[in-house]
Amino acid sequence: MQDGAKGSLKIAMLGCGVVGSEVARLLTEQADDLAARVGRPLELAGIAVRRPSRPRGDLPVDPALFTDDAAGLVTRPDIDVVIEVIGGIEPARSLILSALESGASVVTANKALLAEDAATLFAAADKYGEDLYYEAAVAGAIPLLRPLRESLAGDRVRRVLGIVNGTTNYILTRMTESGAGFAEALEEAQALGYAEADPTADVEGFDAAAKAAILASLAFHSRVTASDVHREGITEVTSADIASAREMGCVVKLLAIAELSDDGQGIGVRAHPAMIPLSHPLAGVREAFNAVFVECEAAGELVFYGRGAGGAPTASAVLGDLVAVARHKVSGGRGPGESAYADLRVRPMGDTHTRYHVSLDVADRAGVLAQVASAFAEHEVSIESVRQDMHGSDDAELVIVTHRASDAALSATVEALRSLEIVRDVRSVMRVEGTA
Ligand code: HSE
Repeated sequence: MQDGAKGSLKIAMLGCGVVGSEVARLLTEQADDLAARVGRPLELAGIAVRRPSRPRGDLPVDPALFTDDAAGLVTRPDIDVVIEVIGGIEPARSLILSALESGASVVTANKALLAEDAATLFAAADKYGEDLYYEAAVAGAIPLLRPLRESLAGDRVRRVLGIVNGTTNYILTRMTESGAGFAEALEEAQALGYAEADPTADVEGFDAAAKAAILASLAFHSRVTASDVHREGITEVTSADIASAREMGCVVKLLAIAELSDDGQGIGVRAHPAMIPLSHPLAGVREAFNAVFVECEAAGELVFYGRGAGGAPTASAVLGDLVAVARHKVSGGRGPGESAYADLRVRPMGDTHTRYHVSLDVADRAGVLAQVASAFAEHEVSIESVRQDMHGSDDAELVIVTHRASDAALSATVEALRSLEIVRDVRSVMRVEGTA
């Protein structure tokens, strides 16, 4: 370790909540190790928060470092790296742009901002010759973005399939394992601190969709924003869906999916609940854990698993990025940047091809199966299997699983089924993923 503060790299942090306070604690407690790994000490030089005088328990940080002047902090000429952990679009975007312009590299965990406006941020990083790293933005502690950006840069990614939202994975795990309904499982998740008081971003799939956009951009060297992503949450998933999945040897998961189209000329990007077989590596990912399954041309199948949220796990990813960008500051130059050269377009959801599980309540009389099968045939959706369960003497439930079909064809089929007099209800329609 070098002497005194002269040779230190100055770190500014924006925000000091659950993640920020863990970052500050680790920076302080592991100062010697971090200095040895970087080649110069890392000095926390300022923390911008809304209320600087708020007591912060036993956080081992000098209270004089807290300020409410975030704009002043990021433009200080002595700051080498800015860590942004406030989240949201503004003022985070303006502060990051100011930091880059002022000659600081940036480490951020801000998935919403990256999914909305990565182009502006990366352009600024390029213009001012600074690093912009964001490993913590997707799947918390799991090293995932750096492997996609660096380790797999020589390969061709075909598909990324991920459980990237711990809140919804916890809820679906409870629904699967204890038979709880959605509302009950959500309450349990809130009581345990896995779900926010306002759970909309998680349960409606916004968080997973933002992460899908980031993963798609990296995996396919293209620019994908959250608005390009087809999104469905888990609020409509019922106990009956979970039971149907079990009968098929499957489990229901909220998946973020980014995949190359069959012709290789476009990509599909989506976040929605789906059934996956129990034999798939993602099926055993329980509670609030995250995991991402990556299929590559040369590497084959890879799985990344771990904690996707929480103060210390997310701080681990932030610190990893901090060490990386600090090393670049010490050695001069920048790390590997983003590449959007492939410029693949996101295909409409209707062009997506996958398998479907459709459950119908029907009248049980002669010709019903033929009418239902015709609706599928007329839209060129091929049926893989049909199961009929009797409900009383006049009603039956038909469970139909299709071969791969386009989303547009499946939607048209479901519309046709709804208009049939013998179909009393379309109980559920769910995609089946993770199969050949
Ligand atoms: N709300 C997110 C989750 C936290 O439940 O996984 C990390 O983005």
